[in-house]
Amino acid sequence: MKNLALTNIGELVTNDPEINNGKLGIIENAGVVIADGLVTWVGPASELKSQANSDPVDLHGSAVFPGFVDSHSHLVFAGERSAEFAARMSGQPYVAGGIKTTVAATRAANDESLRNNVRQLLHEMTACGITTNEIKSGYGLDTATEERSVRIAKEFTEDVTFLGAHVVAPEFADDPEGYVDLVIGQMLDACAPHSKWIDVFCDRGAFTVTQTKKILQAGIAKGLKPRIHAHQLENTGAIKMAVELDCASVDHCTHLTDEDINLLAGSDTVATLVPGAEFSTRSTYPRGRDLIDGGAMVALSTDCNPGSSYTTNMPLMIALAVREMRLTPAEALYAATYGGAQALRRTDVGQIKVGAMADIVALNAPSYVHLSYRPGVPLVNHVWRSGKTVFEVDKRRNHG
Ligand code: NIG
Ligand code: FE
Repeated sequence: MKNLALTNIGELVTNDPEINNGKLGIIENAGVVIADGLVTWVGPASELKSQANSDPVDLHGSAVFPGFVDSHSHLVFAGERSAEFAARMSGQPYVAGGIKTTVAATRAANDESLRNNVRQLLHEMTACGITTNEIKSGYGLDTATEERSVRIAKEFTEDVTFLGAHVVAPEFADDPEGYVDLVIGQMLDACAPHSKWIDVFCDRGAFTVTQTKKILQAGIAKGLKPRIHAHQLENTGAIKMAVELDCASVDHCTHLTDEDINLLAGSDTVATLVPGAEFSTRSTYPRGRDLIDGGAMVALSTDCNPGSSYTTNMPLMIALAVREMRLTPAEALYAATYGGAQALRRTDVGQIKVGAMADIVALNAPSYVHLSYRPGVPLVNHVWRSGKTVFEVDKRRNHG
């Protein structure tokens, strides 16, 4: 079988620490060889000719980087909340309770329409260069709909997250502890077989740190790995608990103290920043610069959901991280690729090196810097997942 060879790459971002050219491990005038869905060779384009038996794809000097790893999204839902967004933009605050609007629509939807919604949003994400997705439940809040949600998510990704503890279900408004018991009992039993991760929205209007710890520990006992939403609406002190439980990631991190940054920096817990949420709720952006200067691993994610961040556009997240959180363009790309992989504890994605999945993006631009230099412009030209084209804009350009 013939290999695929990407050639005439103007700027190849590998994220490979063995390539000693800044954190991004950039090779100029590069080539990449792919076989059986994996990267089998990376090096200067001039040496590519010696790689026998390859079908070449001429990238005409484009920038190429690992597919984005989106480690946080809520794609299994029905309906939309544009009226809530419009009200917020007219001065209403964002509150966790808006989630219940989507819960009612999701419970009423059949599997096929939920599946179609996921498919449509993933299609948008692929066109933006995202090749790895985490997908959460959390708009069912009853056992049957949560189970349907994780089962449908599992049709699309291995990184499925059970988020039965998104907010307290409306039926339990007067009995939040009763809802926690349901989540860690019958609901967890039904959802764990389809899930890899357990998540809790630990914040004002959702769950307390004590409740969150109880829910995460129950999930861990069932073989799930922990991650949380926290410090979006206020500083609840959840970071310490998350680090102690070795959560893979704390997501949002909008309100952080210096001590929180130190705790994250001294741990294997990634700080996942979701600037689409600050954009769409008109909130202050997290301390991205301080997290990186303090030594924490940072990931960037879309947090795609119909309430607080209805976007599938990772390049926009990069532009916001650069403009609003003072990450450099290089740090922002690293966070959206390698950082996302770390947040999912994946070593097979987020890098272009021998043995990695051939998840690769080519831009219609000479440098990755254009991702933030040209905000909002659809620059993604070609996307390969496991070595197969999953998105392509300009056939003439890519097939020479
Ligand atoms: O990540 N913060 C909690 N969950 C979502 C919002 C969900 C919603 O508003 O529907 C988030 O921002
Ligand atoms: Fe979220």
